[in-house]
Amino acid sequence: MEKKINYFENPGAENTDKVIELVKERKEELGIENIVVASVSGLSSVKVLESMPDAKLVSITHHAGFRDGDEVELEAEYVEKLENANVPIYAGSHSLSGVGRGISNKFGGVTPVEIIAGTLRLFSQGVKVCVEISIMAADAGLIPTDKEVIAIGGTAKGVDTAVVLKSAHMSNFFDLRINEIIAMPRP
Ligand SMILES: Cc1cc2nc3c(=O)[nH]c(=O)nc-3n(C[C@H](O)[C@H](O)[C@H](O)COP(=O)(O)O)c2cc1C
Repeated sequence: MEKKINYFENPGAENTDKVIELVKERKEELGIENIVVASVSGLSSVKVLESMPDAKLVSITHHAGFRDGDEVELEAEYVEKLENANVPIYAGSHSLSGVGRGISNKFGGVTPVEIIAGTLRLFSQGVKVCVEISIMAADAGLIPTDKEVIAIGGTAKGVDTAVVLKSAHMSNFFDLRINEIIAMPRP
């Protein structure tokens, strides 16, 4: 089987619109309903919603306190748009750092889950993010694990990576399958 992968010259938010266009094409080609998006502020999810209002969309933000205090980094104007369209917005523990980050922050060293994250970053930040948010969404009961979904992630802001995957739960993480890469940054 031959399939197209779009490689971006640089990582980052400038690739957001192109990723969404490619996701829309692949969604139609494969008949995929569920899309899970990493969107800290909610903006990338709003853009996906505007492009694919028929999708079963899930928007994942950072856990509270990722940056500061108990703060959740969502922005009210995007939350309102997502809520009006009944898009679930989920903030929970990050599946590819979790308590492991608390251990390494306090005691140094690295935990196995952080090594998994580092290995997925060999592809791109976004590939790691796509896997991470798909586990989080499955554990929250927001996406199925018996059907392919499209996951979208990026490098800090906006999105530059999209994959087709079959998700899994945290407890059977290694059952997750990345079936297709739609787009990722090359460097
Ligand atoms: C749970 C979660 C984990 C993330 N981890 C990373 C990461 O490890 N590296 C990275 O560059 N971006 C990471 N991001 C950022 C996303 O890949 C994406 O660029 C961002 O959520 C887009 O947000 P926006 O819609 O506000 O622009 C993460 C986002 C979320 C929600």
